[in-house]
Amino acid sequence: MLENLEQQPADALLALIKLHNADPRADKIDLGVGVYRTGEGDTPVFAAIKAAEKKLLETQDSKAYLGPEGDMGFVHALMPYVFGKDDPSKGGRIDGMQTPGGTGGVRLAAALAKKAGVQRIWMGVPSWPNHAQILADLGLELKTFAHSTKDGVVDMDALRAALAEAQPGDAVLLHGCCHNPTGIDYSNADWDEIAGLVKARGVLPVLDLAYQGLGYGMEEDAYGVRRVLAEVPEALIAYSCDKNFGMYRDRVGAVYAMVADPAQLNAVLSNGHTLARAAWSMPPDHGAAAVRLILEDEALTRLWLDELDTMRARMRQVRARLADAGKAGAIDLAPLGGQNGLFSIVPLSGEQILKLRNDHGIYMAGSGRINVAGLTMGNIDKFIADLATVSA
Ligand code: LMR
Repeated sequence: MLENLEQQPADALLALIKLHNADPRADKIDLGVGVYRTGEGDTPVFAAIKAAEKKLLETQDSKAYLGPEGDMGFVHALMPYVFGKDDPSKGGRIDGMQTPGGTGGVRLAAALAKKAGVQRIWMGVPSWPNHAQILADLGLELKTFAHSTKDGVVDMDALRAALAEAQPGDAVLLHGCCHNPTGIDYSNADWDEIAGLVKARGVLPVLDLAYQGLGYGMEEDAYGVRRVLAEVPEALIAYSCDKNFGMYRDRVGAVYAMVADPAQLNAVLSNGHTLARAAWSMPPDHGAAAVRLILEDEALTRLWLDELDTMRARMRQVRARLADAGKAGAIDLAPLGGQNGLFSIVPLSGEQILKLRNDHGIYMAGSGRINVAGLTMGNIDKFIADLATVSA
C-alpha cells in the first residue's frame, strides 16, 4: 500500500530553515520563518522563561498525565490578557483547553467548527499558508477575499462583499493582530464595523491570535478579538504563545470557545477533548507550565512584559529604518513603517526572490514575505542595497 504514496514537496517555509543553515556565506540574511531575533541576530530563551523553567525543575513533582485539556492553570491564566481583566470568562461563556502550539489551536478550532456543522469558511488572502492547508485537510470549503489592496491598506470593501455573500452557518477566519504575512492590520474602527457585520450575518468568527503583544502591546493587540466577542453570541479563538513567550519549539497554544449560554460550554469543550484525544491525546506540558508559572508570579510577569516591550521596540526601529530608506530600486519600503508584527510583504517576483537568495544570500518566503526581525542595524543596509539591485 505504501507505494501508493507520492512524494510531497517539503513545506516551503520550513524548508528555508535548512537552506539557510546550509549556506556557508558569512553575510547571509534569514528573513524566512517567523522567529524573533535580537539586534545581534539571536533568538534567546526569554529570561522570564529561564526563571520559570528553573522553578519548574525544582518544584515539579510528577510528570503523570494531565488529560486532553492540558494545563488548565495555563489556559485560565492567559484569559485576562486575551479577553480582558474585567470578567474574562464573560459570565461563564468562555473557556478553553491547551493545544500543541497555535497550529494545534487553529486545527482544533476549525475541527470544532466543522463538527458543529460549518461547511464553508471565509478567509482573507494572502494568509498564513498553513491556514488553507488545515482547512483543506478537514474538508472545509474555503472561500477567499482580498485581505489588502496593492496600496498596502486593508481591503474593507472586499471583506464587506465577502460577508454580504456569506450565509448564516458559515465561518470567517480573521487574524487578531500582526497579520501574517502582510503586517497590515484592521484599525480599531475597522474592527468596530467587522464586529457588527459578523453579528448581522450570523457567521461564526474563528479568531487567530498568534502574535499578541508584538504589534502595539498586549492590551492594544486584543482590541479586535474583544470587540468581535462583545457583539457576537459565539466564537472560537486560537491562541499561540510561541512568539510572545518565545516558546516556538515547545509548542504552547490554546483554543477557546465562547458560547451563547454558559450551559452549552461543557458540551462544546468535551468535543474539543474528544478531537484532541484522537489527534494527539494531550498537549506537551513543559512550555505551558513555564508560561503558567510566569503568569502566576507578579515579578516574572513584569520581566516577561519588559522583554516583550524590548522586542516590539526593536521591530519598530527596524521598520522605521526601512521606511526611512524610502525606495530600494523599484520597491517602496515606506509602507513597512506602519505595518505590525514580524512580517511584511515586499512585492518581488519569484525570479527576484530567487536572485536575492542565490546571488546575495537573502532568504525569504516565496510570497515575498520578510521577517523584519531578521534585519539588524548590521545587515539592513546590505538588504536595502541588494533589494535595489534585484528590483532596479
Ligand atoms: C511563520 O509563519 O513563519 C510561523 O507561523 C511559523 C510557522 O509555523 O509557519
